[in-house]
Amino acid sequence: MMDLPGISIVVVVVVSLIVNAAVLCNGGITSSFVRKVEKTVDMPLDSDVFRVPPGYNAPQQVHITQGDHEGKGVIISWVTPNEPGSKTVFYWSEKSKHKNHAEGKIVTYKFYNYTSGYIHHCTIKNLKFDTKYYYEVGIGHTPRQFWFRTPPRVGLDVPYTFGLIGDLGQSYDSNRTLTHYESNPARGQTVLFVGDLSYADNYSFHDNNRWDSWGRFLERNVAYQPWIWTAGNHEIDFAPEIGETIPFKPFRHRYHVPYKASGSTTPFWYSIKRASAYVIVLSSYSAYGKYTPQYKWLEKELPKVNRSETPWLIVLMHSPWYNSYNYHYKEGETMRVIYEPWFVKYKVDGVFAGHVHAYERSERVSNIAYNIVNGVCYPVNDQSAPVYITIGDGGNLEGLVTNMTEPQPQYSAYREASFGHAIFDIKNRTHAYYSWHRNQDGNALEADSLWFFNRY
Ligand SMILES: [Fe+2]
Repeated sequence: MMDLPGISIVVVVVVSLIVNAAVLCNGGITSSFVRKVEKTVDMPLDSDVFRVPPGYNAPQQVHITQGDHEGKGVIISWVTPNEPGSKTVFYWSEKSKHKNHAEGKIVTYKFYNYTSGYIHHCTIKNLKFDTKYYYEVGIGHTPRQFWFRTPPRVGLDVPYTFGLIGDLGQSYDSNRTLTHYESNPARGQTVLFVGDLSYADNYSFHDNNRWDSWGRFLERNVAYQPWIWTAGNHEIDFAPEIGETIPFKPFRHRYHVPYKASGSTTPFWYSIKRASAYVIVLSSYSAYGKYTPQYKWLEKELPKVNRSETPWLIVLMHSPWYNSYNYHYKEGETMRVIYEPWFVKYKVDGVFAGHVHAYERSERVSNIAYNIVNGVCYPVNDQSAPVYITIGDGGNLEGLVTNMTEPQPQYSAYREASFGHAIFDIKNRTHAYYSWHRNQDGNALEADSLWFFNRY
């Protein structure tokens, strides 16, 4: 028989656990989703997704991104392997038979013992809004044809659907993420990519053949809809031990962005308008302190955003400011300290980051009140603050991050260590529907979702 003092000790322990839980665990949800424990492995180079298109000097790794500030331009890029070939792009709208043409430029680079193919970039401008265009590259040898649709004219109530992907890499899981995104009935029209593309730098001597394979893997999507690029740490490719001392060399040669159109002086920070959204891309791996070029650009950029034209203000960066995993914890902190007051002042709607290979969504919080004597140094609820989303769960070979700080901090609304992608679906000037989709689920299921109400 159990004696009474024993029972009272149990009661005390249980009560104190409940009290502690109430005091400490007042954050959001830590998902209890159970996934199969599997290693994340890169697909071998002879995988079908990396197949080289047939034909002499056939263009490969075809990709597009926005080519101006408001969506009437497109940068078309591709690689020819054998010889430079033609720099011409033919393009024509669905409704016309007349073929226009534009001439691009070719760049090449060397990285240790690797020499790139001929990397073509061609900007086509002054397209019609909301129009389907066909385009052809590889003229003269092996022409290949693709198409894209330009966004609608920039405006207040223009609906538009963005996909959100980060830290993708080229593993079997990366392929699952991309396939899942492609089959999502929400039909993303443009991908906002939050950095860490190929993970080639995880190979010996940063084997740049893995940049090529990544380009071929992604072509099935990015040749048809623009991806908006953010630079991550895996784009730095800084390797002085093999004589490679110029940061971002492969990324800079391969992925061009329209930075000049927003008055930026480098491709690492810039902005675009697309439908009713204003997207600002920042660089976690370039100087951002006071007086630096990035600081000065952002300081001028934020007041330029006209919210009665583009009510939705989105910021992309690689390293998250609000992250409650033990991995990369606080790496975004120094940038947060400098820029967060602006994000609150200008009522940024959402900040999307990657880097942490898991998923997390924050409450609307800010942490800007602290001044060395007042002791106010914790994040507090703030309706002027953005929602911070970490979407570094694309599926690269480094695998998932599962180690979380406990208890879940108050600012963290939902967190889960699963691979997936998200959708930011703008309905009109006041409403946008956000959803996160884990790879294990079918298309009908949303593992996390939130209505965004525009506060402007
Ligand atoms: Fe990263």
